[in-house]
Amino acid sequence: MRGVWLGVLMAAAFSASALAAGDEDLSQRIGKGDPAAGKHKLESLVCRECHGEDGVSISLMAPNLAGQFADYIIKQVHAFQSGHRDNPTMDMMAPTIDDAALVDVAAFFASNPRAPGEISGKSNDAAKALFENGDSDRGVLACQSCHGPEGKGTEAGGVFYPLIAGQRFTYLRDQLNNWKTGERSNSPDGVMNHIAAGLTDREVESLARYISGL
Ligand code: HEC
Ligand code: HEC
Repeated sequence: MRGVWLGVLMAAAFSASALAAGDEDLSQRIGKGDPAAGKHKLESLVCRECHGEDGVSISLMAPNLAGQFADYIIKQVHAFQSGHRDNPTMDMMAPTIDDAALVDVAAFFASNPRAPGEISGKSNDAAKALFENGDSDRGVLACQSCHGPEGKGTEAGGVFYPLIAGQRFTYLRDQLNNWKTGERSNSPDGVMNHIAAGLTDREVESLARYISGL
């Protein structure tokens, strides 16, 4: 009997620690906002018309926000508001939300499961190799060293490395091109500009396809 109870106890302890790890991941993703309040506030905001009610985009050009780090979402909205990042649509949309709502809306999006990805690009060997190993000859760092092995993003030393897996293909391609040309330049120390500068147009296309399928 003792052995049985020990087994049950261990199983309980295991699932409790698995849960704690999950909670920890979620609390890191949602930051200080209140997801329930965010869901409510979103009902009277324009965001859902492109990014969807749960953050899974319903517009071809708009990125998914579901499962993204709240702090990253907040940083980007602030960048559109201050002009550190430019996009004709978001330049108009970002000023329609104040910080009190943004913190909660970002927490709500962060609490939702990420989009499953629109295309299967996993079989793309060259892109997979770049993603996993980079190309040191050209100074292209492995994407996974910062964005994580599955592209699900991470936080380290106060820097948020965004979730990119399952993101819309067109959005990923456009952002890589924006980093490459310098049109977008708001990454810490210009890291994404340096990395994208080493990629050919073909690699941008195939990496975007691969990551979208992750
Ligand atoms: C009319 C469509 C539309 C609406 C409404 C809209 N967005 Fe966007 N959003 C976009 C597009 C398009 C982009 C991509 C911009 C780019 O390419 O740089 C974007 C980008 C973003 C990003 C950057 C995501 C990333 O991964 O870097 C965030 C965050 C964001 N929007 C939040 C919001 C919030 C919050 C609202 C509501 C106040 C909102 N958006 C309303 C279309 C929209
Ligand atoms: C040294 C760390 C590092 C490496 C390596 C790296 N990234 Fe990034 N990446 C970042 C950071 C940090 C950001 C967030 C920039 C910001 O805060 O605006 C980012 C942002 C992005 C974005 C924009 C996401 C969005 O939602 O708008 C894309 C796309 C991206 N990276 C793709 C890649 C690809 C593809 C590779 C490999 C070729 C790569 N990254 C390698 C650090 C890195």
